[in-house]
Amino acid sequence: MPSLRLLVLFGSQTGTAQDVAERLGREARRRRLACRVQDLDSYAVADLIREPLVIFVCATAGQGEPPDNMRNFWRFIFRKNLLATSLCQLDFAVLGLGDSSYAKFNFVAKKLHRRLLQLGGSALLPACLGDEQHELGPDAAIDPWLVALWEKVLGLYPVPAELTEIPRGVPLPSTFTLQLFQDVPNTVPQELTVSSLDPHQPPSESQPFLAPMVTNERVTGPSHFQDVRLIEFDITGSGISFVAGDVVLIQPSNSATHAQQFCQVLGLDPDQWFTLQPREPGVSSPPGLPQPCSVWHLVTQYLDIASVPRRSFFELLACLSPHELEREKLLELSSTTGQEALCEYCSRPRRTILEVLCDFPHSAGAIPADYLLDLIPRIRPRAFSIASSLLTHPNRLQILMAVVQYQTRLREPRRGLCSSWLASLNPGQGSVQVPLWVRPGSLAFPESPDTPVIMVGPGTGVAPFRAAIQERVAQGKTGECRDPRLGGPEACSWDPSWLCPAGVHPTLPGNFLFFGCRWRDQDFYWEAEWQELEKRGCLTLITAFSREQDQKVYVQHRLQELGPLVWELLDRRGACFYLAGNAKFMPADVTEALTSLFQQHGGLSSPDAAAYLDRLQRTLRFQVETWA
Ligand code: 2AM
Repeated sequence: MPSLRLLVLFGSQTGTAQDVAERLGREARRRRLACRVQDLDSYAVADLIREPLVIFVCATAGQGEPPDNMRNFWRFIFRKNLLATSLCQLDFAVLGLGDSSYAKFNFVAKKLHRRLLQLGGSALLPACLGDEQHELGPDAAIDPWLVALWEKVLGLYPVPAELTEIPRGVPLPSTFTLQLFQDVPNTVPQELTVSSLDPHQPPSESQPFLAPMVTNERVTGPSHFQDVRLIEFDITGSGISFVAGDVVLIQPSNSATHAQQFCQVLGLDPDQWFTLQPREPGVSSPPGLPQPCSVWHLVTQYLDIASVPRRSFFELLACLSPHELEREKLLELSSTTGQEALCEYCSRPRRTILEVLCDFPHSAGAIPADYLLDLIPRIRPRAFSIASSLLTHPNRLQILMAVVQYQTRLREPRRGLCSSWLASLNPGQGSVQVPLWVRPGSLAFPESPDTPVIMVGPGTGVAPFRAAIQERVAQGKTGECRDPRLGGPEACSWDPSWLCPAGVHPTLPGNFLFFGCRWRDQDFYWEAEWQELEKRGCLTLITAFSREQDQKVYVQHRLQELGPLVWELLDRRGACFYLAGNAKFMPADVTEALTSLFQQHGGLSSPDAAAYLDRLQRTLRFQVETWA
């Protein structure tokens, strides 16, 4: 083996960056380069000063933040006390994954590239900016960039003449070897239970809490297009604690029908057991997979057979296929020239791994068990904004969840794995337990009761605001804003007369919620609860029912109508502004409405309004949580 060690470090939020990093690892091994692929936060960052060659693969999350598994690295690399020569031994390249529909497209990759240069590193080539929005996905930018990258790398570190590249079409050795056996082992791994949890460790990805589901209730009307559920878990004894703005991560399972189908097409016996051995030293076992493990457990809890396969799946399946025709087709779908065909076959109609395997039965039936973990990614946990406060609902955790279902050109509707699985669970039928844990989200609400909050949450975007309102009300943080018509130094020009007719409320509460939905009687979540809070003077609710009149009315129209009030609250009363939701264009539309009202009611020029918003964002007075 050559002496060069290539290091690929990734920061991945949804798994795409990890997939690309692993592809780089495979391509390096084909070129006989020793290579290690690792997530950034598990890498001892101080070792960077000794590395000769590092490829960074970094996604940019929603609003320009680094992914969760590179946050520590991010803080470290921007420390002020690092020297301009710290990384002068390093050759590096940065591959970014982003979405050009967001304002801060590939922000993390661009910023990291600049920073590594600042610290003395030498860039092998300009940063690659992969774009989810591109018709062919990020590969459109990645493929040519990788060709240039390997040229550079092999120019610097040529492969010795006696070693030739391993050609495409020949499988690399699997990461693990799998020892299958028939009998149930004597030491069946202990299932996770409340009592098996380490009481000193809060539940986490490696040690989730199995929370009993208490409620699973449809909260949209029967004629509404969308099935939205209010789901409640009992977290008694879990050690879980959370505040408004936190999110819960839920680890879903495959449906039994899909798991059975998968076993059938692969010829796997679900009752068999296995143990795993990594082929190379230094490779750790897959997290969360017990040893020994049953095939049924692996297929139901671990392998993401309902996800849309990536290109690497086709590449490996082609290598493993003994069937000439299928192999040819698979090779074509994984080639650079086959990307349009792959998109048409798979990404556009959202065809799943299981469906693809059914389309290639001879290849599926011949997959050696050793390769299962290389071929199929693990099921990722899904994040939901927590919709309740522990102060109002002790020992309980609630979420508001839309059941994801849509039609593509395929006959069978597409269903979201986690939401369909949760929706299918019936807490009335014995004990139903869901693996979960909690982490901070991107919203943090003000400590001070005097700080008013403006929350804009159409649809299920209202979830984190229900938690915040419950919390603020329970703590007495209604943050009253005195009605300026009562006079005094706070007097101002806005006219809230339709909000609280003179004489009805002498004061305005400091919780302003802008909520949007289609119909008052179909998808107006927690209507009674809001009314009750309004009566108590704890909340001002502003609604936008989009379909109850000829013209669409959205939350941003209400914001604009109340422009003077919003400007007053932000500019003179130090209010914080929050935005949450999942409508594709909603976050950009609301932000635009906001900057336009800064111009109209604050008298700012367009660049000044943008700078004003930027300042609010930097001081955490404008916070956004969006989901796809
Ligand atoms: P619509 O479905 O009638 O278009 C919750 O989903 C609410 O958000 C619905 O009333 C929905 O309206 C609305 N919505 C859709 N797109 C939006 C956008 N770009 N900005 C604000 N609200 C939007």
